Amino acid sequence: MSAASGAEPPRDCPLCPRLAQFRAQNRRQYPDYFNDPVPVFGTNDVRLLIVGLAPGLHGANRTGRPFTGDYAGDLLYSTLKTQGLARGHYRGRGDDRFALVDCAITNAVRCVPPENKPLPAEIGTCRQFLSAQIAAMPNLRAILALGKIAHDSVCTALGLRKSAHPFAHGAVYRTPPIALVASYHCSRYNTNTGVLTADMFAAAVRKAKEAAFQNAPA
Ligand code: URA
Repeated sequence: MSAASGAEPPRDCPLCPRLAQFRAQNRRQYPDYFNDPVPVFGTNDVRLLIVGLAPGLHGANRTGRPFTGDYAGDLLYSTLKTQGLARGHYRGRGDDRFALVDCAITNAVRCVPPENKPLPAEIGTCRQFLSAQIAAMPNLRAILALGKIAHDSVCTALGLRKSAHPFAHGAVYRTPPIALVASYHCSRYNTNTGVLTADMFAAAVRKAKEAAFQNAPA
């Protein structure tokens, strides 16, 4: 099942002028890269949605698949595979035939931002695509947000007050029918500084998986 209409920004999405300008610059500088808004990875019939921040310039923006070719993807995809949420060999390429199992991955901001830092206005503008994506997933039972920006954007998309649902690693907010699980972002910075270990990340993914598949038909 593909994304419902409205969930994907158009190829030349003009809504964030700074990001559109950066895209045009990257198309000139890196003509072999994907250089479009990066679409969701996975299908709409799944129970778990993972939400990252934004594509990395030389990772997801190059390959066209969230987290693919980004340092953060190494930990994310190996953890998903270990927990049965992915299968195949992740090779950091969009055509590696690596597949997700009953989960999907998207970003709070679909276009690569300069210096990996989307502006608050860009996060707010791009939320319409996150909201449309969530609305297009009838079986969705859990969202795993990677990092505070993704967590806050998901809260807003779900109509939750951020003050009542503060970001904390491993926090689980049960807001039927969807549980929101928060994790530190699996970025190189967080893993290199020890903010996030592989075990901590695995524990957060496990919580999201448990929330997604609780009471699931066998
Ligand atoms: N790559 C992505 O697609 N998203 C992130 O949040 C980080 C790297």
